[in-house]
Amino acid sequence: MKITEKLWLGKLTTPLPDRHRPVYNWFTMKESFSRELVLLLAETWGLDEGDLVLDPFCGTGTTPLACRELELDCIGYDVHPILLLAARVKLRDYDAGKLKENIEAFLKNRFEGQKVEAPGFIARVFPSAVIEEIASIRRKILELEDEAIREFMLLGLAIAAMRCSWAHKDGAAIKVVKRPIPPLLQELGRQLRRMCSDIKKLRMKGSKVKVEFCDARKMNLTDGSVDAVITSPPYLGKKEYLSAYRIEQWVAGIEGPNPSDLIGGSEGGDFSQLVDLVGNKPRETWGYFKDLFEVIKEIQRVCKKGANICLVVSDGCLPGGPVDVCQTLSGLAEKAGLRAKSLVIVNKRYCTTPSRKKLGITKEGLLIWTK
Ligand SMILES: C[S@@+](CC[C@H](N)C(=O)[O-])C[C@H]1O[C@@H](n2cnc3c(N)ncnc32)[C@H](O)[C@@H]1O
Repeated sequence: MKITEKLWLGKLTTPLPDRHRPVYNWFTMKESFSRELVLLLAETWGLDEGDLVLDPFCGTGTTPLACRELELDCIGYDVHPILLLAARVKLRDYDAGKLKENIEAFLKNRFEGQKVEAPGFIARVFPSAVIEEIASIRRKILELEDEAIREFMLLGLAIAAMRCSWAHKDGAAIKVVKRPIPPLLQELGRQLRRMCSDIKKLRMKGSKVKVEFCDARKMNLTDGSVDAVITSPPYLGKKEYLSAYRIEQWVAGIEGPNPSDLIGGSEGGDFSQLVDLVGNKPRETWGYFKDLFEVIKEIQRVCKKGANICLVVSDGCLPGGPVDVCQTLSGLAEKAGLRAKSLVIVNKRYCTTPSRKKLGITKEGLLIWTK
């Protein structure tokens, strides 16, 4: 496998290039990559209209959204309900006029605060009057018959409510920072109107693109059906998917992900197939590699011969020091029958202890494989 360093590509593996891009920026995760990365790979590989791209970890839908712009077919999977909601809302075709009328009619409602039992973490980040207002607005949204309009408004409410909270996201942690907050209904109106006008700014083409709930370890796809894979699996040792969006989940009335659905959840089982590649690594990483080996075998199964595959991954940083993920996953890909062509290193960071003692270097890279 060829190893190269292209640190100028590092920005493309973050959501930063899309922070002002309509629709893409409605609901982002700090782990998202950019539209530009998808465009670059599609061009490099010569993907064409009608080709099917797979993103088995689609999160908030960057790959499917970029594919729609490029007129490529795409299927995105994830197991995180609020992220799937965000991806669905971003990808839908809307009648902008009808949507606008519905939004304006909705905002004319009178929202009497509704008494609710809120969990402790919600009571810490919202004043009680805002909690009651959220509950009342959410109830009215859930009464809307049209699923597209209902989900659009729920996402808008989740985004607007965060701006009316004392929650401050600092990496994976949610801190409480008391500050003056704007009126919720005003923020909701602003958010929904902005989303509505964004729709007209993104040129969506008529390709077949969908996202659905599916565990990447067992995909709903037939053998040899996929032309390319562009994805980024969860990073080793990161458990934040369980809690990072719990405020938005409560606001939208949506369940969190099931812990055993998330990659890295496998505890026991047979690790004998992996022992040569992961045997010398800390025991707590084995479940992660075992789960990803299942995903890689599925990628091998569903890809056409000659398909190109790109995974954005990062080495892990555990209390004992860095854990090589980039080369290990490429070894697993070879074991599954794929060809690991190259590793393009796009970022290098120090792995440190909480007291900032340097333990070594971790790399983030693009793993380029073919079938
Ligand atoms: C690094 S993020 C992907 C971000 C995405 N590329 C974007 O631009 O928004 C990894 C995603 O994997 C999802 N995930 C974790 N375990 C999964 C599984 N077993 N099957 C499918 N998706 C899973 C997480 O919910 C998360 O959305």
